[in-house]
Amino acid sequence: MKLSTSTHLGRLQLGNRVVMAPMTRSRADVHGVVGEQTVRYYVQRATAGLIITEATNVSPDAVGSPLTPGIWSDAQTEAWKTVTSAVHAAGGTIVMQLWHTGRVGHSEVRGGRLPVAPSAIAIQGQKHFTASGPKDYEVPRALTTDEVRATIDDFETGAKNAKAAGFDGVELHGAFGYLPHQFLVDSSNQRTDEYGGSLENRARFVLEVMERLVRVWGEGRAGLRLSPTLAYNGMVDSDPRATFSYVIERLNALPLAYLHLMRATPDAERFPHWPKDTLATFGPLFRGPLIVNGGYDRDSAEAVLEAGAAHAVSFGAPFVSNPDLVHRFETGAPLAAGDRSTFYGGGEKGYVDYPALPRDAAPAAKGYWLVLASVTNPAQFGKYAALAGPTLASYGGRVLARGDVAEVVEGSMPRRPYFVEFPSYAAAKACFRSAAYQDAIALRAGAAEFDIVVVEGIGA
Ligand SMILES: Cc1cc2nc3c(=O)[nH]c(=O)nc-3n(C[C@H](O)[C@H](O)[C@H](O)COP(=O)(O)O)c2cc1C
Repeated sequence: MKLSTSTHLGRLQLGNRVVMAPMTRSRADVHGVVGEQTVRYYVQRATAGLIITEATNVSPDAVGSPLTPGIWSDAQTEAWKTVTSAVHAAGGTIVMQLWHTGRVGHSEVRGGRLPVAPSAIAIQGQKHFTASGPKDYEVPRALTTDEVRATIDDFETGAKNAKAAGFDGVELHGAFGYLPHQFLVDSSNQRTDEYGGSLENRARFVLEVMERLVRVWGEGRAGLRLSPTLAYNGMVDSDPRATFSYVIERLNALPLAYLHLMRATPDAERFPHWPKDTLATFGPLFRGPLIVNGGYDRDSAEAVLEAGAAHAVSFGAPFVSNPDLVHRFETGAPLAAGDRSTFYGGGEKGYVDYPALPRDAAPAAKGYWLVLASVTNPAQFGKYAALAGPTLASYGGRVLARGDVAEVVEGSMPRRPYFVEFPSYAAAKACFRSAAYQDAIALRAGAAEFDIVVVEGIGA
């Protein structure tokens, strides 16, 4: 199964290719500070190969919706540290999605200040959620050129704070009609300065922000999310093929971790001149790793990976109600349905109370033999892999990412299983009986540190 194989996106190491898509849950406090529930929420989902956090505002001016978190103040940064350290302790990898909502906001949520945007053009035909109910969009205030530059600085500050908070990287939210997207698309950007007009000028904001993120984070730790064929929030570009091809080709000059691409949506059908297959149109243009998103299930995700069209697949709604989504994909267990009424805002209900399946269930047959190496912590596993890896490899064994099939508690010590995939049961047994293997794990490392069990009855 491709989804369960490890990979890396730039410098980000993923134990599997199931990425948790960014999801706003509106459970921060009024200062944009996340709390203990948010720590639990992300830890519950730490078996994802990569977690991308909910969109997080880079400045007070970036805020468009109530109770969304921020990353501009010390209190916000300190609170995020508790999330990253807990996710890392649980073996996860987590990047922060950086956000500026631009015109997708309302003065009611912004202390009376109008939303800002590239141009003073309101979103039509949609309403905005506020604490006092849905409201029509206001005409936003167009940013001055100096303010555009200051906003780019805000993204850099957000990226620095995210680093201080212990994240593994950052993703720019360049999708779904928020500020970076508003700059790209000509229905929302009619500026006459160097940030509007020509394609080069409209792309400048996103490219300059990405340069800053790379400057802060270095190679392979900054990603970008794009939705070239999504009309949501009034993103009706006259030529998305030209606009997004240009942006993606320019991105190739930067050492990004990944491009996170939304595939085609029904919107594309409404605009005859838009490309119908987003992934086929834009995916091959990007030379780095691609995460794809949008209505995937296990089989369609496997298919896109098998076709070599993406490195990883992100899942949004399925992760809300299935904290153990990776485990369910692995075992073929059914997915729990989510309650949409608790997606945005509220307390624990619909946030941290979706149960994981019992974790002592035997893994389903997967067509190969597995050896279970149960060690007490990830550092020990690294040692095990270093010592035993060459011997395992010589018998065709391949060390898989940390398994999420079972977590056994012995005394007070949780023991996490790891797996080695062998071409056959005979190869696994032969490897374990070999002098080289025994020497590697028993004599040099000390037998007591490792508890190796050949799992029988799994595989074909
Ligand atoms: C509750 C909810 C909140 C979301 N918030 C964000 C967000 O903050 N940033 C973002 O880029 N996408 C956001 N999305 C979109 C998801 O990342 C994803 O693109 C979408 O759910 C489609 O993927 P899926 O079919 O696997 O659910 C949100 C989706 C949901 C369901």
